[in-house]
Amino acid sequence: MSQLAERPSRHVVIGGGSGFIGSALANALIQRGDTVTLISRSSGEGRITWDALRRTGLPPCDVVVNLAGQHILDMRRRWNDAYRDEVLSSRIETTETLVQAINNSATPPAVFVSTAGKCFYGTRELDSADPVPELDEDSAPMGMDFPAELVGQWEAAAEGVDQNRIRHVKLRIGVVLGKIERKSHIGKLWRIGRARGFLPIIRLPFCLGIGATIGTGKQMFPWIHIDDMVGVMLHVIDNENATGRFNAVSPGIVDNREFTECFADKLGRRVRWSVPEWLVRAVVGDERSSILLRGQLVRPKRTLEAGYVFAYPDIESALSDLVKKTF
Ligand SMILES: NC(=O)c1ccc[n+]([C@@H]2O[C@H](COP(=O)([O-])OP(=O)(O)OC[C@H]3O[C@@H](n4cnc5c(N)ncnc54)[C@H](OP(=O)(O)O)[C@@H]3O)[C@@H](O)[C@H]2O)c1
Repeated sequence: MSQLAERPSRHVVIGGGSGFIGSALANALIQRGDTVTLISRSSGEGRITWDALRRTGLPPCDVVVNLAGQHILDMRRRWNDAYRDEVLSSRIETTETLVQAINNSATPPAVFVSTAGKCFYGTRELDSADPVPELDEDSAPMGMDFPAELVGQWEAAAEGVDQNRIRHVKLRIGVVLGKIERKSHIGKLWRIGRARGFLPIIRLPFCLGIGATIGTGKQMFPWIHIDDMVGVMLHVIDNENATGRFNAVSPGIVDNREFTECFADKLGRRVRWSVPEWLVRAVVGDERSSILLRGQLVRPKRTLEAGYVFAYPDIESALSDLVKKTF
């Protein structure tokens, strides 16, 4: 008997499901026979809006996932108070709205998957002689910065879900790597493929031959391939014993230098530069700079213990798959 026949089809509601991770998750769910409804700021087929959710409550469903959030590194926008407030409210208010709708539902979903970032673990200045602390799902933040405060508040907003009735899974997501494709010789530039994420943001300087490590390049870079991101989500949705915190990061963590050199190699470029820390701070602002300049050595301890097998456990296999020439 096929797996599809054994597993009843489910209705999954995804807040912020129109984005990079959400659309990959929705595709995977639909492919295996589940039904998906997105919660979005805009109405459309297969969607409900956040306002409609507040007014009419949660539609009957088996699983709720929240992925809504204004991108924190949108380089088209200047970092200011309005942008900062939007980053906070787009995560906290959507989470609170969903928690309320789930708790008020007469037939609540079996599972609520709330998401947050690896920035939960914070950053701190390390002496070069200090060992880099290893962080897993049981670790407290190693230091507080703006991204860690944001994630702390975001996670706290999800804690209100009624855990007597609903299995609550909390994901802490690393930098998600999606596909980029080079489609023709004409532009000689690596274009963004259908996927979004971190690689398209950093691709251009590499194409122009000025790809660089960031700061010292020694900061750890917790990453995950988009297929594994979806794989971890399906695993925790399907596994009835999965509850609590799970790190969605690859076991093959590397530092910024190793990541940068591997990425450049896949693009057929070389890394000759390093962006000084002062320039990163000037471009992205002090509050966000720790995302790029400081890292965390995050391990997916509970994710591995829960039996998830990573399809791309090392950066070489992940980038070989994601960076493709299609001519
Ligand atoms: N991608 C990563 O590397 C990564 C790493 C760690 C954590 N995360 C977190 O995972 C979540 C999903 O990431 P993603 O890469 O899929 O993000 P994304 O592509 O930017 O999609 C996020 C979705 O959130 C909704 N959204 C955006 N601004 C909003 C606002 N002001 N208010 C309400 N909803 C808003 C949008 O849906 P509508 O336009 O349909 O409303 C959007 O499609 C985000 O919260 C992100 O912080 C991502």
